[in-house]
Amino acid sequence: MITLVRNIGELITNDGSGPYRKSGFAFTFSSGLINWVGPETDAPDHCDHVIDAAGCAVLPGFVDSHSHLIFAGDRSAEFAARMNGETYAAGGIRSTVAATRAATDTELRSNCASLVDEFHASGITTFEIKSGYGLDVENEVRSLRIAQEFTPETTFLGAHVIPREFAEDPDAYVDLICGEMLTAALPYSRWIDVFCDKGAFNPDQARRILRAGADAGLLVKLHANQIESIGGIDVACELSAISVDHLTHTSDSELNNLAGAGIVATLLPGVEFSTRSDYPDARRFFDAGVEVALATDCNPGSSFTTSMQLMIALAVREMHMNVDQAIRAATLGGAHALARTDIGVISPGMKADFIVLSAPSIDFLAYRPGVPQIAHTYLAGKALTT
Ligand code: NIG
Ligand code: FE
Repeated sequence: MITLVRNIGELITNDGSGPYRKSGFAFTFSSGLINWVGPETDAPDHCDHVIDAAGCAVLPGFVDSHSHLIFAGDRSAEFAARMNGETYAAGGIRSTVAATRAATDTELRSNCASLVDEFHASGITTFEIKSGYGLDVENEVRSLRIAQEFTPETTFLGAHVIPREFAEDPDAYVDLICGEMLTAALPYSRWIDVFCDKGAFNPDQARRILRAGADAGLLVKLHANQIESIGGIDVACELSAISVDHLTHTSDSELNNLAGAGIVATLLPGVEFSTRSDYPDARRFFDAGVEVALATDCNPGSSFTTSMQLMIALAVREMHMNVDQAIRAATLGGAHALARTDIGVISPGMKADFIVLSAPSIDFLAYRPGVPQIAHTYLAGKALTT
């Protein structure tokens, strides 16, 4: 069955051809894949089904390459304390670890399922989920097993923070991660990640862990330069990471190194918002030639949001992206941060993951902050929201 999407206000294809915003364009898909894109006047005559976009904008589904959806409890009191002057510290993660270990599988699964519903309503069609609130073999594996029920993009983040029981001997925890925990996590993971920052893991520990993961066949990504620059970017370059995430504090030479290594910079404006930190200036990243992705980092500590639309609005208003740059970062940038070549672009052969807005242009995603602009989300050609 061939479906034609027509009467599109502006179409974002991310295919690199023509203007970024295409007017008068339509496309068709069948069996979950795009098969034709072009001027509506050239559309194929025989289509079985028509989606009338009613003059609204259509764009690729958002790709959220960084989230932590397997957890229990919340940290609203910690957020309120920050808004009263406290600063964010990595140690807060341990309170979510305690709540997560105490939760049943059913509780973790149902919390994750409702956040995934929010992702879909926010236009997110592909998303990554990390472990990292278990921090022992059983609970890290359990987190990844549940995460894998929702997405193939699962990330082993046993190196989120040193758990309390290893406070006196952090290197013994690094040994555990690189040995038994990694072996048990492997069947459920595509990625390995480390939180390399003040109060979490130092660059030597990060290097050991990422190397062990890479040797076992996992793709490498890294949390770095959120709280301070302590050398994580050098490690990411050595280990050929696909993406480095956060980058709140990044020097010019670190940006040049990221550009030279072809590593995607994943910016997470929900974190600066929720920790009341200064936002990185995205113009510096673009000027240095770094590819940029935007992600929610949905987690209960530093960014409890599932709204990619809010990330776009913050990236535009606070990080100085223009709207086209922010949309590209939230779609194709995210696809590259996940090393995916089948999503993020509307062109023949790509997955038919797309969003129909309730507005005529993508500007409305930043221009109407706090007001949902997603009318319909389609995943492999199937409507997730109606
Ligand atoms: O990406 N920075 C490290 N990890 C998460 C925060 C986790 C938490 O505070 O619970 C992040 O921001
Ligand atoms: Fe994170």
